[in-house]
Amino acid sequence: MSDAKAPVILVIDDDAEVRYSLGRVLSSRKYQVAEAGSGEAGVAAVKKGPPPDLIFLDVRMGGMSGIEALQHIRAANPRQLVILMTAFGTAQTAIEAMKYGAFDYIMKPFDPAKVLTLAENALKAHADMRSAGDYKPTINADDYREGIVGASPVMQDVFKVIGQVTASDVTVMITGESGTGKELVARSIWKHSHRAKGNFIAVNCAAIPDNLIESELFGHEKGSFTGATNQRIGKFELCDRGTIFLDEIGDMALATQTKILRVLQQGDIQRVGGTDTIKVDVRIIAATNKDLESMVKAKTFREDLYYRLNVVRIKMPPLRDRREDIPQIVDFTLQNLVKQKKARVAKVAPEAMAVLSRYDWPGNVRELENLVYRSAVIAQGDAILVKDLPSEVLASAGAAPAALAAGASVASSTGSAPPLASGSGSASPVPPAALVATPTSVPSQTVEQALDFLHAELAKLDEPILERLEREMIVRSLKALDGNLARTSELLGMTRATLRKRVEDLGLQPA
Ligand SMILES: Nc1ncnc2c1ncn2[C@@H]1O[C@H](COP(=O)(O)OP(=O)(O)OP(=O)(O)O)[C@@H](O)[C@H]1O
Ligand SMILES: [Mg+2]
Repeated sequence: MSDAKAPVILVIDDDAEVRYSLGRVLSSRKYQVAEAGSGEAGVAAVKKGPPPDLIFLDVRMGGMSGIEALQHIRAANPRQLVILMTAFGTAQTAIEAMKYGAFDYIMKPFDPAKVLTLAENALKAHADMRSAGDYKPTINADDYREGIVGASPVMQDVFKVIGQVTASDVTVMITGESGTGKELVARSIWKHSHRAKGNFIAVNCAAIPDNLIESELFGHEKGSFTGATNQRIGKFELCDRGTIFLDEIGDMALATQTKILRVLQQGDIQRVGGTDTIKVDVRIIAATNKDLESMVKAKTFREDLYYRLNVVRIKMPPLRDRREDIPQIVDFTLQNLVKQKKARVAKVAPEAMAVLSRYDWPGNVRELENLVYRSAVIAQGDAILVKDLPSEVLASAGAAPAALAAGASVASSTGSAPPLASGSGSASPVPPAALVATPTSVPSQTVEQALDFLHAELAKLDEPILERLEREMIVRSLKALDGNLARTSELLGMTRATLRKRVEDLGLQPA
């Protein structure tokens, strides 16, 4: 806490002994402890104010129960952080505690170190929540009716091309990693084109088996194959005067590719099993995250079709190459979630936003959207805090989660947590960069933070840590280096013979 004033912690329990012992533990950390001997008294104290920074609340009390008191307290002050105390670790208590917005719960009898860690985590969350207090959104979602957000120069270029291709029927190829917004862009082209009154139909070529895709796209005549009990109109016909979006076109079978080429060249189709030629007026937009150039070289993708499709190419940049767009996408997503009543939270603590901006987002915007949704749902106050982000994201974004960092510091000052085995075992020192397997170079502060995080996290495990770590390190490094023993041994700082032996000892498949 940056406050000079000691944080105030209110202990609500009808057992004087618990109040006393908990009070002693907490005041050993220069927390100012207040007490209430019943749920009623506790609720009254909170309502009277000023609100404590944190409350420890007993679940089972004569009179008003802890769960009841929790509801009153949270109704009076939705940001109030409460840790429930219970002697019975039943699923019901845990579920109710979290449902009514407890920050966490702790089992009696207490482990003093755990109490202090928990208090520290909660107070950190409290501080984070306050730092989000005057949150200013970067955008107003209402201004983005297109649904595409991005102020980065690369996205501005994408917008320009969208504008340029809307006036004609030119075929567009959209490439980019998964979740970068390929379909969104395709829809936007359609909406702004003269075809907006026609249909937009997206066909995921990877999701439809080869033997069904032609019928899906071009339709079929009754009896044309087993199971074709009725005539069927295909997507191209349904899309007449509209736009068809052929997603994952790299997964389309060669035979089907030939038929797509025919549509592009002649503007007509034939239903499967049919003899009539049907004129269709369809604009094609295709997308792929595959490398079609190499597929053309490998003759798995038709060269002529490739050139036909690739008249205009839009490359969607991965999110990690336009990090400046991240806060806007976060705000856009949150505001939409609130509008749809899927979440209440519309703020993000600055530290949490910093983590989101640092993470690499392998799943791009889709991953970011999902994560924002998840975090908004589990956030307890009115802001997404660092503690609401998944630990994988925290670890690889190089932030020791507040919770775990606090745990580590308690451990070191009380000496009560088991020390993590230091690198003196059979494993040779491992280059930490390999732990945080990012392609870019890792600043050493990030490595420090990642190690802090690992240390705290691993201290909680009850298993031989070094062996597990070594196994993971070896497996991951081998994978990253395509099983190349020489380079892997170099990376791990061991001889090739040692690596081979460790691979054997750990029962790993060398392949
Ligand atoms: N620039 C953006 N602004 C706001 N939302 C976006 C943006 N880009 C993508 N999204 C959202 O991210 C999600 C994924 O987008 P989309 O489906 O268009 O990606 P994709 O590239 O087609 O992914 P895949 O290759 O996995 O099919 C959608 O919910 C979309 O609304
Ligand atoms: Mg898609």
